[in-house]
Amino acid sequence: MPTILEAINNRSSKRAFLPKTLPQDVLESILQAAAQTPSGANMQPWVVYAISNQTLLQNIGDAIIEKMSSGVEHDQFIQYYPVKWSNPYKKRRIETGVGLYNLMEVDRKDTQTRTKMWHDNFRWFGAQNVVFVCTDKNNIDGAAGALIDCGAYMQTLMLAAQEFGVDSCPQGSTTEFGRVVAEVLDLPENLALLYSVVLGYADTDAKINSYQPKRVALEESVVFIN
Ligand SMILES: Cc1cc2nc3c(=O)[nH]c(=O)nc-3n(C[C@H](O)[C@H](O)[C@H](O)COP(=O)(O)O)c2cc1C
Repeated sequence: MPTILEAINNRSSKRAFLPKTLPQDVLESILQAAAQTPSGANMQPWVVYAISNQTLLQNIGDAIIEKMSSGVEHDQFIQYYPVKWSNPYKKRRIETGVGLYNLMEVDRKDTQTRTKMWHDNFRWFGAQNVVFVCTDKNNIDGAAGALIDCGAYMQTLMLAAQEFGVDSCPQGSTTEFGRVVAEVLDLPENLALLYSVVLGYADTDAKINSYQPKRVALEESVVFIN
């Protein structure tokens, strides 16, 4: 059983999974742990769809890829990434992307392979469980607290998964097509999709799963005032 620090340090986003569904009790234990995430006023703003129905996952992926292929850049409830990228964040984003493509020996100009790698998001990287996290639109109408809470939920989910040997990949790619997901899932009108997390058993032979982008030094992200 990993310690908390081991789970934190060992987790990394995986992008190639074995075709193996999580046992229902494992999935429920992970979701039960995620439900312990603290939230402002204990509002627990997450509304979660845990999907292992392969036809439905295929349909969601098909709908997103079709939308993307028609030239639509996003069809979303919330804007996840900055509208105006500035440094050092822009530099970090570029370095992280370049690092992944270099590892996979994908040329900068090879848009076909890059597009296929992006589409892999909507094939859930081969995993068979995807958790879609939504919140009530009222919670994020002029307020951002529910987004903070649901972000914390994401991390609890991914760390709890570690205990069961379950790997994950958080997905802002689905955030960008949240309305497409909502349509396929026929979500209630009051809900907005925030993100998804792929859960599964990583293919340890897959080169892509060895990618572990580094973090900046503590001095770059923390100001100590003693
Ligand atoms: C909110 C959020 C959205 C993300 N969206 C995607 C995504 O759509 N596709 C993907 O492959 N990785 C996605 N990632 C994974 C990040 O690229 C990854 O967390 C980051 O590069 C650090 O790497 P690590 O998770 O392996 O430590 C996302 C991460 C977060 C936290």
